[in-house]
Amino acid sequence: MSDMQPTSTEQTQGYRVLLLGGGGREHALATALSQSPHCAALFVAPGNPGTALIATNLDLIPSKSEAVSAAIHQNQIDLVVCGPEEPLVNGLADRLRDEFGHEELLFFGPGASGARLEGSKDFSKQFMARHGIPTARYRTFTDDQLQEGLEYLSSHPLPVVLKADGLAAGKGVVICSTSAEACDTLTDMLVNRRFGAASSRVVVEEFLQGIEMSAFVITDGRDYLLLPEAKDYKRVGERDTGLNTGGMGAISPVPFAHTEFMVRVEERVIRRTLRGLQAENIPYTGFIFFGLMKVGDDPYVIEYNVRMGDPETEVVVPRIQSDLLQHLVAACKGELQAEYIETNPQTACIVMLVSGGYPGEYPRGFTIYGNTQRPLTYHAGTRRADDGSLQTAGGRVLAVGAMGADVSEARLKAYKRVQELCFEGVYFRRDIGLDLLTPW
Ligand code: AMP
Ligand code: GLY
Repeated sequence: MSDMQPTSTEQTQGYRVLLLGGGGREHALATALSQSPHCAALFVAPGNPGTALIATNLDLIPSKSEAVSAAIHQNQIDLVVCGPEEPLVNGLADRLRDEFGHEELLFFGPGASGARLEGSKDFSKQFMARHGIPTARYRTFTDDQLQEGLEYLSSHPLPVVLKADGLAAGKGVVICSTSAEACDTLTDMLVNRRFGAASSRVVVEEFLQGIEMSAFVITDGRDYLLLPEAKDYKRVGERDTGLNTGGMGAISPVPFAHTEFMVRVEERVIRRTLRGLQAENIPYTGFIFFGLMKVGDDPYVIEYNVRMGDPETEVVVPRIQSDLLQHLVAACKGELQAEYIETNPQTACIVMLVSGGYPGEYPRGFTIYGNTQRPLTYHAGTRRADDGSLQTAGGRVLAVGAMGADVSEARLKAYKRVQELCFEGVYFRRDIGLDLLTPW
């Protein structure tokens, strides 16, 4: 349980919260939620050894809606916050809203119709086209359009980007540098179902040359709170080389996301997206994560996610000084208009400690040495062994970081923390934030 036990009056007024998920993102969210004076009790399902120190972990899988529903009854939950996308895409929010009603339960996360922004790349591209939201030019092909697709690719400028339509655990995007590779990849996706049912439809998209960053909002479908922006580092190798991962580190704020650019993001991307959702009668309560490419000084949307990013959350949430729980409740009640977000101007830097071999095969079960109970230290793939020791249990093991006056100080402090932790085969990128040191 939280070491900030609410008083008995707060207990009656406060919220009993269930957070779904079990990664570094959820550990960072749980940390902020547990610190709210409005938090009467916090449960995390399934959680991890980090969340176990600040909340009650529940042994259940978020995608099993009956189990979630039983846990809500059993623990008298007032508010559910969904960390990952999969339960949202599969309609968990709709089912629980139907079952409990708005008076009984607040649910922070969109229903299936809103979650299509992430669940179907084809839907999100069409949505952007309908609402004038800047994005790469594209065409979508289904398996009975293979020939057409191959012809289209033969004259497409290179590189070209192929995206499986559905959820593919972050692996459904292939950037091809030759036409032959693009044709093989399209065939493999559509015919051989390289990404399963997710690639029964493929979006073929123009390659955007620019620099990536992410913007995030909390929204009730009409108003929004802009959260601090972040940059993540997706490739396993330094200087962004090697295989794609879930994310090897993150920085917030992003020095090149200057005010003028962020105003463009709000005008051209965020407001148009919310107006589009309203125009299409898609109710939306939750986070929206805008994966952006800054091309020159203009923002283009690469993807929408209907959840926070990981490890972006681990740098965004520590910079929020106002009450996150209050913001989430206000969004659920459609009262965001009155909310104001306070952010810490300092820079946060997070470095992921991963198992040697990740994102390929890797061994697990190694003991983790060092103090994991420091600020900006979040568990991702860890487990508590029977003897009480902490062990590695996943590819991304710990998100370790620090805050500093600027990128330079934040990364120096973060890497100092990294040196204070170790496990067999530990790997991390040494260049998180390094590209941001040059003045923008
Ligand atoms: P996604 O899963 O949509 O985030 O795509 C994975 C990665 O592929 C992104 O983070 C980008 O680095 C890259 N990517 C996706 N779409 C494009 C594009 N149109 N142009 C350039 N890079 C892209
Ligand atoms: N770090 C990227 C993501 O969460 O999708």
